[in-house]
Amino acid sequence: MSRILITSAIPYINGIKHLGNLVGSQLPADLYARYMRGRGHEVMFICATDEHGTPAELAAAKAGRPVADYCAEMWQVQSDLAKGFRLSFDHFGRSSSARNRALTQHFAKRLAENGFIEEVSETQVFSVADDRFLPDRYIEGTCPNCGYDKARGDQCENCTKQLDPTDLINPRSAISGSTDLEVRETKHLYLRQKALKGEISAWIDSKTDWPVLTTSIAKKWLNDGEGLQDRGITRDLAWGVPVQFDGAPWTGMDGKVFYVWFDAPIEYIAATAEWADARKEQETAWERWWRTDKGAEDVRYVQFMGKDNVPFHTLSFPATIMGSREPWKLVDYIKSFNYLNYDGGQFSTSQGRGVFMDQALSILPADYWRWWLLSHAPESSDSEFTWENFQVSVNKDLADVLGNFVSRITKFCRSKYGEAIPAGGVLDDRALALVADLESRVRAYEGHMEAMEIRKAATELRGIWAAGNEYLQSAAPWTVHKTDPEAAAAMVRLGLNLIRLYAVLSEPFIPDASAKMLAALQTGEKSWPGPVATALSVLEPGHGFETPEVLFAKISDEEREEWAKRFSGVRT
Ligand code: MF3
Ligand code: ZN
Repeated sequence: MSRILITSAIPYINGIKHLGNLVGSQLPADLYARYMRGRGHEVMFICATDEHGTPAELAAAKAGRPVADYCAEMWQVQSDLAKGFRLSFDHFGRSSSARNRALTQHFAKRLAENGFIEEVSETQVFSVADDRFLPDRYIEGTCPNCGYDKARGDQCENCTKQLDPTDLINPRSAISGSTDLEVRETKHLYLRQKALKGEISAWIDSKTDWPVLTTSIAKKWLNDGEGLQDRGITRDLAWGVPVQFDGAPWTGMDGKVFYVWFDAPIEYIAATAEWADARKEQETAWERWWRTDKGAEDVRYVQFMGKDNVPFHTLSFPATIMGSREPWKLVDYIKSFNYLNYDGGQFSTSQGRGVFMDQALSILPADYWRWWLLSHAPESSDSEFTWENFQVSVNKDLADVLGNFVSRITKFCRSKYGEAIPAGGVLDDRALALVADLESRVRAYEGHMEAMEIRKAATELRGIWAAGNEYLQSAAPWTVHKTDPEAAAAMVRLGLNLIRLYAVLSEPFIPDASAKMLAALQTGEKSWPGPVATALSVLEPGHGFETPEVLFAKISDEEREEWAKRFSGVRT
């Protein structure tokens, strides 16, 4: 048994995530966590909300709520949706927690003591009326390029031109509308990533088993153009982790907070401490996951994220950890994802395009979505959600293959032998061939799950279901029963045991259906299968079962058309 630490990129607090976000980190991380738990390993699966930064402030302002209240409410919403999708986090934390504040300040202090922090003087726009420095996107004005009068200081939304706040004509504060703006001198902290480049580079080079998507992005940022740059880690915002040193204001840093991308990954550690706090555990309970001087050298740490997050996890966060010169656990493996597109375009949070987590659960249970999303995970390239494709997958894989198998065998047994595993007969050659086939398939499935080859694992699992279905079709116990009820009993016994095996193997993908199957078989025996032949004799003659209700309903053409129409526009 080993210990496995799993983190999913932490979703921004502002708004409900779409299915593309879900399949890019949280859902595959959950698949892996469930599988590893199933294999008997000790798993710590961590996620949280990413609550700081300008987007959170702006979203709260738009909702007319104090930012802290807004975040608390949205955390609850996201937490409930995570439960709805059966994401099995050991803890779903908040980056605004006291733990993260303390740890973020701790890392900054260590970095400063080790000479990796530089104070840089910059000029920045100050709003006299608001009594604060304004981040670029808090300044509005007329675009010098197209004349649009609501261009932001970082970019014009109308013509997409990248801007500097000083480019704007008639600039004003987006907070108060005041035009009383001055350019003032201010100091910021920079993380001297360049000084750590050699170390980071050597570390990445040592990760020869990482997916190409991960290492290619990391190396591009390390070596292309000017390469790894020092990075500003403070911002002029009220909402965030205050820039302090040992609890006292950091000289010249009044009113500043750490940049959201500095504190967010530290929340992986903080959320594990929050987990320990919530359970009234000792410090050692979380430190054994994160401190290599406290037992974490035995931990395997795997991160899941979308490709846009890779630079922060391969360069910036490691720079924070390495520069601390403390024995914190570094990531061992990074599984990254391409994008999921929606029906000929992109999923878009800002435009409300696509299907969002709450909407998805309002039309179908979690397993339907989990199966489609995971079996189409954008691993080697972007993938696309279409309603046709979704309908086909659900109807074929879940309803026709798995659901139908479970229903046929239980109903047939009930009608001919009653609701208990029948005795008599022995496995014939066809059954033995099935067992041999499943033996190699199950071992292949394990290999893909270990390697986080999600699509391959889904394909193998589907193959495992289909093999049982084909066996049943050709063995035809309903025909055999007429002349040889004992031989048919052996087939049925095998079939009912297959349901149990399927429940165990499928749990990481479709946990609710798995639980229903085990409940129907009235068994708690769900340990991971060793030899398939053994796993298929767990339920013995006489063991009672219940014929379950339909596991998966088919999606009708009318439903498909209705949903495609309902989700064709933008969310309002
Ligand atoms: N909130 C970011 C996003 O959704 C991810 C942050 S991951 C972390 O893209 F490492 F910073 F925590
Ligand atoms: Zn413009």
